[in-house]
Parts: sequence; C-alpha cells; structure tokens
Amino acid sequence: MIAQLPPTSSVNPLDPSEPLHPSHPAHPSHQLSPSPPAHPVSHPHDRIVDHLKIDEAAERAKLIKNLRATPASIEPKYFYDKLGCALYAAICQLDEYYPTRTESAIFQTYRNEIAEAMGKVDTFVDVGAGDCCKALSWLPLIEPARYLAVDIAGPSLESALATMVPEFPDTEMLGLATDFSANLDIPGELLTGRVTLFYPGSSIGNFKPDAAVLFLRQMRRYATGGLLIGVDAKKDKATLDAAYADSLGVTAAFNLNALRHINRVINSDFDEKKWRHVGQYNAGLGRIEMHLQSIESQVVNIDGIARTYHADERIHSENSYKYDEHEFTAMLGEAGFAEVQVWTDHERAFWVFYAA
Ligand SMILES: C[S@@+](CC[C@H](N)C(=O)[O-])C[C@H]1O[C@@H](n2cnc3c(N)ncnc32)[C@H](O)[C@@H]1O
Repeated sequence: MIAQLPPTSSVNPLDPSEPLHPSHPAHPSHQLSPSPPAHPVSHPHDRIVDHLKIDEAAERAKLIKNLRATPASIEPKYFYDKLGCALYAAICQLDEYYPTRTESAIFQTYRNEIAEAMGKVDTFVDVGAGDCCKALSWLPLIEPARYLAVDIAGPSLESALATMVPEFPDTEMLGLATDFSANLDIPGELLTGRVTLFYPGSSIGNFKPDAAVLFLRQMRRYATGGLLIGVDAKKDKATLDAAYADSLGVTAAFNLNALRHINRVINSDFDEKKWRHVGQYNAGLGRIEMHLQSIESQVVNIDGIARTYHADERIHSENSYKYDEHEFTAMLGEAGFAEVQVWTDHERAFWVFYAA
C-alpha cells in the first residue's frame, strides 16, 4: 500500500528533445531543506510514500506533444514499467554493458576507503534505486538508521523493500515513489540526521550537462553528509556502441518496450515490430544517443490523431553523457560540493565520486 503526499509541479530536463535547460525552475527552499526527524514510519503499509505527480492529464499531453513533434522524442522514464525494470536488470548482466560490473568492482576494491570518506550516515538516500541491489552491499558497512529508496517505479520499490526488510532489522526501510525529472523533492520528515545520497549507475548521464549540474545542486541541498555517485567515462566509440547495442538485443528490447508502455499510458497503437533500436555514441556531444527508428513509412494513431512516421525517421528516447574526471569534478564544484574524492578502475572506464 502507498501513503499519499501532495504532488509537485514540474518541467522535465530529462526530455531528450528539450534544450540545455537554462531556465530550470527555482525551487522554494522549504521544499529542499531537510527538516528534523519527525515520526519514523514503521508499519509495512506505510513503507512507500507516494509522491508521484497526479496530474496525469498534463503528463499525457506532454507525451502526446513530444510524439507528434518533429523530431519526435520520449522521456526515458517511460522505459521503466515492470518489464522495463526487469530488462534494465538484464542489461546490467550483459558482457558488453561494462558500467555495472566496473562500478561494482570499484566499490568492492575501495569499499572501506569510501565508507571512511562517507563517515557517519544516518539516512542513506538511494536516488533512482530500481531493485535496490546496489545499496545491499553498503548497508551492512555504513549501518544507517534509515534507508530511503527513491524511484518512479513504485511497485518495484515495494517488492525490493519487502525483501530487504528482514535482512536489515536495525535499519528503517522506506521508499519514496516520485518523478524527480523536474525536481528532486524529498519530504523533510523522511530524512533524519546526517544524510548521504547515493546515485550510482551513471544515471546522471541522462541529464544534459547544465541540467545535470542543477540536479547535483538539488541533491547537494539534502546532502548534509555527502553524495556517492557513479559516472561513466568517455572512451572509444566501439566499446560504447557495443554497450548500448548488445548482440543479444536486450537493450533493443528495453528501448522498444517503451512503445508498449506508451500505448498503455496514452491511446496509441505503436507496433514495436515496425521500429528498430539505435544506440550510438555521438563523440562530438560526448553522449550515447538512443533512438527508435521507423523501419518503414507508417501511420500511428496517437490519441485519435494520425501521425505519419517516414521510413528511417527517429524517436529520440535517451541520452547518456560521458565525462572525463576533470569535467565531472568541475560540475560537482559548480553544484556546491567543496570536497571531492574519486576512485576508478585500472582502465579509467568509470568514476566513483564522493562529494561533500
Ligand atoms: C538506470 S536505472 C538505475 C537503477 C540502479 N540505481 C542502478 O544503478 O542499477 C534508473 C532508475 O531510475 C528510475 N528513474 C528513471 N527516471 C526517473 C524519474 N524521472 N524519477 C524517478 N526515478 C526515475 C528508474 O525507474 C530506474 O529504477
């Protein structure tokens, strides 16, 4: 069961179609300042706080507008229905998808050092937690009083947390179902003591660089402890292309599944068999771009209006920016983090930063 809190308004910097986001909305400080601990939530039915925006009409209208636009786009959050979450977990197991195993090896090699850098953690906030797997290896070491998993996929959070609760009897396990694409809004009563945020998996790469700094700044305001964040490094195109267009076609299924998800969200009749996955590194922009490319000229009914997609026309579905160490260190500084430590692997393929 999901507890309700009031929704917040938003625009979306994760939308691949949007410009660099110079006018990200200001957020009133009362939304961003952590407040002292209130009443810990201890009953299983209160484990997930639902802070998802309930303005479904506005969400649908935006999705429809983006699909009808030229060039067309969708926001990456539409990847994450139940099947999409499972497909992402499968991607993480692929040989070609080096980020997960490289990040995990860095965590394993430097776990004690990183934990020492983090110091005392009262609330460990897992931003975009997914199946919460990455937090599992940190919790026994840092022993936070509270673990707060934040994700748009409420049902996945619920099942992940239900599994974790018996394993960590001394840590309060909470979930916050929210869409942070426009604003990371964590109710103060969910935060207790010294707060450290965890944002692994290079998900920060989904934001365009200016928007990434703004998102880091939002996280900074909650991080009375610090931020532990995983960031993918720039590297050769062949390695990057393979990571986002694997030979088993799992990433293709993940991308195409967004069309099925969208058909359920709006009244559309996308047929995924008429689309193909494109995932390629754009070295000039330092980002992977994922697109859905129309195999043939086709007409799709989008909420009662026909939209013709020409052969080879693309729907832009995701960006994943890659950063050099100095680029991302500078971004953390711009976001207000004064102290930055970094760990990497021997090929310098991935960075783990702790910033405070
Ligand atoms: C790439 S996965 C990363 C999962 C996990 N942290 C990891 O590193 O393996 C991104 C996660 O962020 C969540 N997510 C994506 N867009 C979101 C949004 N706008 N608001 C909240 N969560 C979002 C997805 O549901 C998904 O679980």
